[in-house]
Amino acid sequence: MQSLRTLADTAAARFTEQFGRPPENSAAAPGRVNVIGEHTDYNGGFVLPMAIDRHVVIAAARSSNKTVRVWSGLSGETVSFHPGEGGGEDPAWLRYVRGVVELSTEAGLKTGGFDTVVESNLPPGAGLSSSAALEVATATIVEALSGVTLDPFDKARLCQRAEHEYAGVPCGIMDQAVSVMGRCGNLMLLDCRSLEAKHIPVENPALAFLVSNTRVKHDLADGEYALRRRDCESAAHELGVSSLRDAVTGDLERLGSAELAIAKRRARHVIGENARTLDTAAALERGDYAATGALMYASHESLRDDYEVSCAELDIIVEIAREIGAAGGVHGCRMTGAGFGGSTISLIDAARAPEIIETIRDRYHKATGIEPEQFVTRPADGGRILSQGEY
Ligand code: GLA
Repeated sequence: MQSLRTLADTAAARFTEQFGRPPENSAAAPGRVNVIGEHTDYNGGFVLPMAIDRHVVIAAARSSNKTVRVWSGLSGETVSFHPGEGGGEDPAWLRYVRGVVELSTEAGLKTGGFDTVVESNLPPGAGLSSSAALEVATATIVEALSGVTLDPFDKARLCQRAEHEYAGVPCGIMDQAVSVMGRCGNLMLLDCRSLEAKHIPVENPALAFLVSNTRVKHDLADGEYALRRRDCESAAHELGVSSLRDAVTGDLERLGSAELAIAKRRARHVIGENARTLDTAAALERGDYAATGALMYASHESLRDDYEVSCAELDIIVEIAREIGAAGGVHGCRMTGAGFGGSTISLIDAARAPEIIETIRDRYHKATGIEPEQFVTRPADGGRILSQGEY
């Protein structure tokens, strides 16, 4: 994997090659893994993600006209657009860039025309929020070019709106918030209703987070995501609360009829997951990794059985992790992100990472015929402008 420095050097060199002058600025924004608190953000609940040390990097410089030109390593071509002039048939990845530029312009961040190169070492489709990283990197470059710095929450919300309005994905706030505000060495416990963030240090060098990408992304992911949001809204409506954040376990009895069976399962997941997220933050703060692991497994089961967003490949990795167990250095494991493919996150003993990676790879490959993509990661900082000395 390319380091951030190599990625930034590659983007700068590519910029000079494509546009015939060096870039003025480079911005980096991280992807994320969520340790726990899944499908709770759009219910006003709690999430506990971290920014990871894998990034989207954008190199940019102003131009003398009104055009925004974007060369992307994703497609190997330059595409351009004129802010304020509506969209044509944009390639899917450009919608995130265009959305952020258009909404920033509306918010008064004036950039004029500019040229950019986008490079990334975040695998797309792995459930690691490469789209949020692209949005946040774009917003960070726009801040630098316009000389206006947004409040971090306004910046996350602007990026979320770009995803809703330009990419058509009705996501919550988690991915953008942690890509903006993640802090090196810390998980971020975010109350998605008040947007209050508390940083939870996880600096024990004996521990590591292992990401295992199943390398599958089932087609139903987007449609099912929107459907889950609607199920939750119906459950909240039925209970007379503005969001499931306000529901408690005792309320579930009121969703007893046969036609509310699905709403009841979705609500049971959200109510339980909010409690598990707060319990996990507390367990990590007191260094109780056995409790953290048990909560991660419970989260996975709830996502599999009540929320129905897991898939066979994710379940297989979680089962392998369980078989390895604490004796083999795995404390807990669960699917992370929206589901229907993508990645799992495991809390493991750092010293045993090589053998754990090998066991998961061998057994997963045996069961599915697929080579997973695996890497150990640590909590990284949120999006920022890179200075020459830094990378
Ligand atoms: C996706 C969305 C997030 C969140 C997760 C599920 O990553 O972008 O807002 O809803 O799914 O927890």
